[in-house]
Amino acid sequence: MSKEVLVFPDKEALSRAAAERLAEVVEATLGQKKRMALVLAGGSTPRRLYEWLAEAYRERLPWDRIHLFWGDERFVPADHPASNYRMAHDALVRHLPIPPSNVHPISTGAPMPEDAAAAYEVALWQFFQNPQPAFDLTLLGLGDDGHTASLFPENVPQATLGEDSTGRQVEAVVAPPRYEIRRRISLTLPALNASRHVFFLVSGEGKRDVLRAVLDDADATLPAAYVQAQEHLTWLVDEVAWGQK
Ligand code: 6PG
Repeated sequence: MSKEVLVFPDKEALSRAAAERLAEVVEATLGQKKRMALVLAGGSTPRRLYEWLAEAYRERLPWDRIHLFWGDERFVPADHPASNYRMAHDALVRHLPIPPSNVHPISTGAPMPEDAAAAYEVALWQFFQNPQPAFDLTLLGLGDDGHTASLFPENVPQATLGEDSTGRQVEAVVAPPRYEIRRRISLTLPALNASRHVFFLVSGEGKRDVLRAVLDDADATLPAAYVQAQEHLTWLVDEVAWGQK
């Protein structure tokens, strides 16, 4: 696996560069196969990337050959303000010429998060025809506590940081009490690490210390530090998060 850190003046520059690099991965991938699997990140950082993709890449990319998945979801209705699906739908998906069958949200209509996780695992198995999903590109954010997707330091026992002993690709998680929405569904590290490419998008002063700790591998409890990629891991960060400003 190769790794690189790219530093940009601000979130706008980061978002536009991420869109261009995403497009390059898409075009290279679709030169090799008929369809590709892209995992969208939640939280707030990716919103500008999604808006820019909708604005500047609507026509350039063959969205009918791109399948969208989510790295994690809060266990709330799809129209809830905290829904990762809703954020991506509003900023990106609803603007694209993409068939609804290409959009694979984590359904939160089930009675329990565990049911939602099990259902998503089945959906991934059906798409990949393999118990191990193999995404082409996974977008991730970084929490100021070192979490990514919904893999939190408190929830990811040391034993599973290296590999998920259960073999599960999707799991129900209870976020720590500091988070308003605690019931979540998340891809596990094996699912994230099976991705050919991974982009981390990191912006803002609040991420400065944790970014340094993750990149320096200074703290073995930080889930983001355990994310690999089968081919290339790219950190796209702004100067404030990098500590340059
Ligand atoms: C979520 C995300 C989460 C996010 C980080 C960073 O559901 O919240 O999956 O992992 O990427 O918390 O969030 P911000 O981009 O809002 O800082």
